[in-house]
Amino acid sequence: MRGVRGDRMSRRAAGVMLAAAMLFALLLSGAGGSRLRAADAPGGRAFVGVASCAGSTCHGRMEGDGKVVRQDELMRWQEPSTPGGAHSRAFAVLSGTRSRQIAATLGLGDPTAAPACLGCHSTPAAARGARFLAQDGVGCEACHGPAGGWIASHYAVGASHAGNVAAGMIPLERPQARASVCLDCHFGSDRPGQFVDHRIMAAGHPRISFELDLFSSMQAHHDEDADYARRKGRTDSLKFWAVGQAMAVERALTLYAGAKGTEGAFPEFYFFDCQSCHRRIYDQAERTKTWEANPGRPIPAGMPPFNDENMILLSAAARVAAPGLVGRFDADSRAFHAAIATDRRAAVAAAAKLAASARALGDAFASGGMKGDMAFAIVREIAGGAIAPRFTDYEGSVQAVMAIDTLLNSMVKSGQVTVGAAAGIRADVNRAYAAVKEPNSYQPAMFRSALGNAARSIGALR
Ligand code: HEC
Ligand code: HEC
Ligand code: HEC
Ligand code: HEC
Repeated sequence: MRGVRGDRMSRRAAGVMLAAAMLFALLLSGAGGSRLRAADAPGGRAFVGVASCAGSTCHGRMEGDGKVVRQDELMRWQEPSTPGGAHSRAFAVLSGTRSRQIAATLGLGDPTAAPACLGCHSTPAAARGARFLAQDGVGCEACHGPAGGWIASHYAVGASHAGNVAAGMIPLERPQARASVCLDCHFGSDRPGQFVDHRIMAAGHPRISFELDLFSSMQAHHDEDADYARRKGRTDSLKFWAVGQAMAVERALTLYAGAKGTEGAFPEFYFFDCQSCHRRIYDQAERTKTWEANPGRPIPAGMPPFNDENMILLSAAARVAAPGLVGRFDADSRAFHAAIATDRRAAVAAAAKLAASARALGDAFASGGMKGDMAFAIVREIAGGAIAPRFTDYEGSVQAVMAIDTLLNSMVKSGQVTVGAAAGIRADVNRAYAAVKEPNSYQPAMFRSALGNAARSIGALR
C-alpha cells in the first residue's frame, strides 16, 4: 500500500491503514510535564552517533535475545519493509526526486545539505562526537537524547534507568516527555529546521499527521515484557493517546502564538485547515455549499478554520476523564476560534489561554486521571452528539479514526476485549479509514456514518 504515490494524502491514509493492519497482526500474534528536549537535557550534550550504539554486544545483535533489552534495536530501526524503519530512511529520502523538487522550488539547493530539511530528516545535534553522521537519519539519540553523558555508564553493572535519566537520557516511558520529542518533528518546533511551513507544503511536502500511541506502536523496537514493566511500568495506551492530544494542542497554539504564527503579512497557513482553502469554487444560480457550519467554531463564513483535530479529540477525552475541566477547555477553544476573526493580538492572547487549559488536561491525564475502562466511554463520546458534529473537516476526521483504532487496541491490550472480538469488527474500523483515504473526495456525512458504525460495533463488545 505504501506504493501508492502521487497524491500525498492517499499515501498518508494508506500508510495509516497499513500500520493499523500491522498492529492488528501484532495483536493477533499475541505480542503485544515539562518540555524535555534532547538539547536541553542536563549533562553530556554530545551526540555520539548511531555507530556508537551499534556494537554486536550492544544494540547491533542479529537476534532479539538480549537479557534485559532485545539488543537488535539497530536492525529493527533499519528494517526497510516496516514503518519502524522510517527513521533510518529519513535522510535517504532527501536524495529522492520529490525532495529535489521541493528544494528546487524553494531555492534551497541540495536538500541533503539544507538546514530546513535536516532538522527533522536527520538527528539535530549541536555537539557531535567523532562517529556522528547526519546520513544516519533520525538516529537513536534523536529520541533517546544525546548519549555523551551516559553511553559508558548505561550498560555498567548497577546502572539504573533513573541514573541514566539523570545523566541526560530522555525518559520516553513518560507520556509528556515522549510526546514532546515526537512532536518536534511530527508537528514542528521553534528550533531551527523543525517546521514544515505552508511554503514547504506548497512545494510538495506531504501533509503531516500524527497520533502518539499509534505512531509509537508503529515504530516500536522493544518488547514490553515483565522486566520492562518492572523497570519502567506498563505502557498505558489510553493515557499516551490522551496526553498526546493535549500536548499536540499545546504545541500548535504555542507555535501559532510565537514567531512561527505569521508569514509575511499573512498568518502561517500551516496551522489552518488545508481543505478550507483548497476546495473547488462553484459559480452558478443554485449554490453548491462545500463547507459545513461547525458547532465547536463560532467563526464567520469565508474564514479558514484553525485546524482543530486535536482539540476535538481532547474535548472527548476530557468529557470522560476530566469532567471538571472540560467546560473551561471547550469555552477557551470557542473563544480562540472567535478571536482569530478579531485580530492577531486577540488571537495570541486566546491561544495562550487555551494552551494553558490543554496543559492542565495533559497534567491531569498524566498524573493518573485516565483509567483503562474509560476507553469505551471515550469511543461513545467521539461518536456522540456533542463531538461527532464537529467532524466537518478532513484532518479532524483522520484523527478520529486513529483514535478509534488506538482505543480499540488499548481495550485488547488491557484485556477488556478479546482479540477474536476485535477481529470481528475490524472491517467497520477499516471502513472508517476508507472514508478518509482521499482528502479531495472526503464527505463529512459519509465519514460520520462510517465512524458511528465503527463506534457502535466497539460499544457492542462491552
Ligand atoms: C518538522 C519536521 C520536518 C521538516 C522541517 C521537513 N520534513 Fe519532510 N517529513 C517529515 C515527516 C514527519 C514526514 C513523514 C510524514 C508522514 O508520513 O506522516 C516527512 C516526509 C517527507 C517526505 C516523504 C517521505 C517518503 O517516505 O515518501 C519527503 C520527500 C520529505 N519529507 C522531504 C523533505 C524536504 C525536502 C524537506 C526540506 C525542505 C523536509 N522534508 C522538511 C518531517 C519534516
Ligand atoms: C523515533 C524515536 C526513537 C528512535 C529513533 C530510537 N528509539 Fe529506541 N525507543 C523509543 C521509544 C519511544 C521506546 C519505548 C520507551 C522506552 O522505554 O524508552 C524505545 C525503546 C528502546 C529500548 C528499550 C528500552 C527498555 O528499557 O527496554 C532500547 C534498548 C532502544 N530503544 C534503543 C534504541 C537504539 C539503539 C536506537 C537506534 C538504533 C533507537 N532506540 C532509536 C524511541 C526511539
Ligand atoms: C528528528 C525528527 C524526528 C523525531 C524526533 C521523530 N520522528 Fe518519526 N519520522 C521523522 C521523519 C522525517 C519521518 C519520515 C521518514 C520517511 O518517510 O522517510 C518519520 C516517520 C515516522 C513513522 C513512519 C510513518 C509512516 O507513515 O510510515 C513513525 C511511525 C514515526 N515516525 C514515529 C515517531 C515517534 C513515535 C516518535 C517519538 C518517539 C518520532 N517518530 C520521533 C522524524 C522524526
Ligand atoms: C489560508 C488559505 C490556505 C490554507 C489554509 C492552506 N493553503 Fe495551500 N495554498 C494556498 C495558496 C494561496 C496557495 C498558492 C496558490 C497558487 O500559487 O496559485 C497554496 C498552494 C498550495 C499548494 C501548491 C498547489 C499547486 O498547485 O502547486 C499545495 C500543495 C498546498 N497549498 C497544500 C496545502 C496544505 C497541505 C495545507 C494544510 C497544511 C494548506 N495548503 C493550507 C492557500 C492555503
